[in-house]
Amino acid sequence: MYLITHKEKLSQTITKYVVKAPFIAPKRKAGNFVILRVEEHGERIPITIVDSDAKEGTITLIVQAIGKTTKLLATKNVGDYILDVVGPLGNPTPIENHGAVVCIGGGVGTAEMLPIAKALKKAGNSIYTIIGARSKELIILENEMKEISDKTFITTDDGSYGRKGVVTDQLKDLLDAPLGISAVYAIGPLPMMKFVSLLTKQYDVQTLVSLNAIMVDGTGMCGGCRVTIGGEMKFACVDGPEFDGHQVDFDEMLMRSRSYLAMEKISDELFTHQCQLEK
Ligand SMILES: Cc1cc2nc3c(=O)[nH]c(=O)nc-3n(C[C@H](O)[C@H](O)[C@H](O)COP(=O)(O)OP(=O)(O)OC[C@H]3O[C@@H](n4cnc5c(N)ncnc54)[C@H](O)[C@@H]3O)c2cc1C
Ligand code: FES
Repeated sequence: MYLITHKEKLSQTITKYVVKAPFIAPKRKAGNFVILRVEEHGERIPITIVDSDAKEGTITLIVQAIGKTTKLLATKNVGDYILDVVGPLGNPTPIENHGAVVCIGGGVGTAEMLPIAKALKKAGNSIYTIIGARSKELIILENEMKEISDKTFITTDDGSYGRKGVVTDQLKDLLDAPLGISAVYAIGPLPMMKFVSLLTKQYDVQTLVSLNAIMVDGTGMCGGCRVTIGGEMKFACVDGPEFDGHQVDFDEMLMRSRSYLAMEKISDELFTHQCQLEK
């Protein structure tokens, strides 16, 4: 049982949790994730470890409530427990001094990008950050990203904050400028990572993306997270979750990620539905 010691709303649907996990906290590296189960009979979901405090024995998770399990988690408060938290899982992000790098976070992907950007800064890189979202209310961790970035750019699809447009509009300007960008790290929705990778390929700039494949066990045994990288089958949980964006078969991944859409919809509706007779 894993105690929630802090809960904070970052946006309408995104919440930050600090959870007591004394065996995970000291081992965690940037890029690692946990697989958690909120309650008995619940599904397992992968969530990135955004931060940890080895002394306090806590880990920080930032979760967007989009379906049944993440909405169930959102009903939990300080003092409540999460049933299982397994980790740290996945390979730590390869961190090196590239010189100048662009870190791109789309939606809740910004939370997953924060520990990586911190580690890249510590390794001596100049950090150009792009935070993208559909609208202003969905921008999270702007101040935290600004603190570790040399320059931060915001884009919103509807123009309600920052530059109107998508992250690739800003990325193109940075790649065209004489900044010596030699690597791009991108985490966000699959279409965003796909188009970032297509753009950086034109500039021959190495690109790392974090694949949010459907995961179940997180240990390479169930096959749920299989992805095709450079024509070879890989498991995102044990071979990733980060891969060379130029090698990822994004179209196959997009198709696979929609496999359970109908069931997810039913499960979400059953969870959020409140019977009028029970009111
Ligand atoms: C390595 C990794 C790290 C992640 N880190 C974070 C994070 O830090 N914060 C965050 O909010 N989200 C993160 N996610 C995504 C998160 O796991 C899904 O949002 C969550 O599983 C949705 O569950 P649900 O029941 O609420 O929604 P569902 O209705 O089940 O699904 C909603 C959407 O989430 C996707 N999804 C469903 N189940 C899974 C699963 N087991 N694994 C991956 N995606 C799934 C579906 O394709 C669907 O588009 C991460 C995913 C991966 C693979
Ligand atoms: S989650 Fe089961 S093999 Fe990766």
